[in-house]
Amino acid sequence: MVSAGINFGSPRRTRVDLAEELQELKRERNAVILAHNYQVPELQDVADFVGDSLGLSYQAAKTDADVILFCGVHFMAETAKIINPTKRVILPDLDAGCSLSEACPPEKLAQFLKKNADKNYYVIAYINCSAGVKALANVICTSGNADKIVRAAPPERNILFVPDQNLGAWVMERTGRKMDLWQGNCYVHVEFTARSINRIRQQYPDAPVVAHPECTYAVRMLADEVCSTEKMVTFCKESPAREIIVVTEAGLLHRLGKEIPDKTFIPGPTDNCFCGECRFMKMNTLEKAYDALLNMEPEITLAEPLRKRAELPIRRMLELSR
Ligand code: 13P
Ligand code: SF4
Repeated sequence: MVSAGINFGSPRRTRVDLAEELQELKRERNAVILAHNYQVPELQDVADFVGDSLGLSYQAAKTDADVILFCGVHFMAETAKIINPTKRVILPDLDAGCSLSEACPPEKLAQFLKKNADKNYYVIAYINCSAGVKALANVICTSGNADKIVRAAPPERNILFVPDQNLGAWVMERTGRKMDLWQGNCYVHVEFTARSINRIRQQYPDAPVVAHPECTYAVRMLADEVCSTEKMVTFCKESPAREIIVVTEAGLLHRLGKEIPDKTFIPGPTDNCFCGECRFMKMNTLEKAYDALLNMEPEITLAEPLRKRAELPIRRMLELSR
């Protein structure tokens, strides 16, 4: 047991103690810990499963635990609750939001759909949105299955893609399917620029660039591969390169370093002093996760009619992307 260290409430309580106590508590509660690839290292290390939005949705759908401690942002935990109405879903910090979700309030989308009723839109919602938006959508997608979902859309319908204009544009490029795009973006991924990527490429001329589709067109054009965080892990494992430039939220580098220790991962730089970390993802800490499971709050709750409406397009996605 590590004795050096930080004071976490009691003079001898260390991070290692806390991680062990969390595991003990998890067994007592019959809980499962799910963590997104962008979570702080301590949370990734205690999780039963670390992955992207799609992988986490499948894990949430198949778990037989009574409690899901969801270490991610609000819409992810909410998705887990939507597909698990009888389980308790706990999020370490209820304020862990998402700039994409904020960009598309359900009332605005409802208004837009009403105003454009003549278009009879087939709405494809990126999973980074609230339950209210999911309830208005025909189908959900993640960055891991977006092209499959778009290809499966009825050919005669107009598509409205919400809320990420960059991911939407990327899927249009890949599928050739025209879509109307909601003008939202991820405040982290739009910080990467063509200039910052060109600069790092000069420094590491042999390193391929792998970027998330939430990046802008200019950045995607400079990347060797554009994909979801889970597919980035696969790309990095399979690439013969020893050094790889990873253009996404910095938390993924922890998992990459752990699973592929013999390669070097260079975080995508920005033009300013922005650290490449999502402030929402980083609201969750080991201490908050422990307290949340101990007190069984903050808990995600949803009105049943809304939950039911939001479940349908998620189930459709899970079926379509098998
Ligand atoms: P992934 O689904 O690729 O993990 O992305 C989620 C996300 O929030 C990206 O910013
Ligand atoms: Fe939302 Fe961007 Fe943070 Fe992902 S990285 S949770 S898209 S703000």
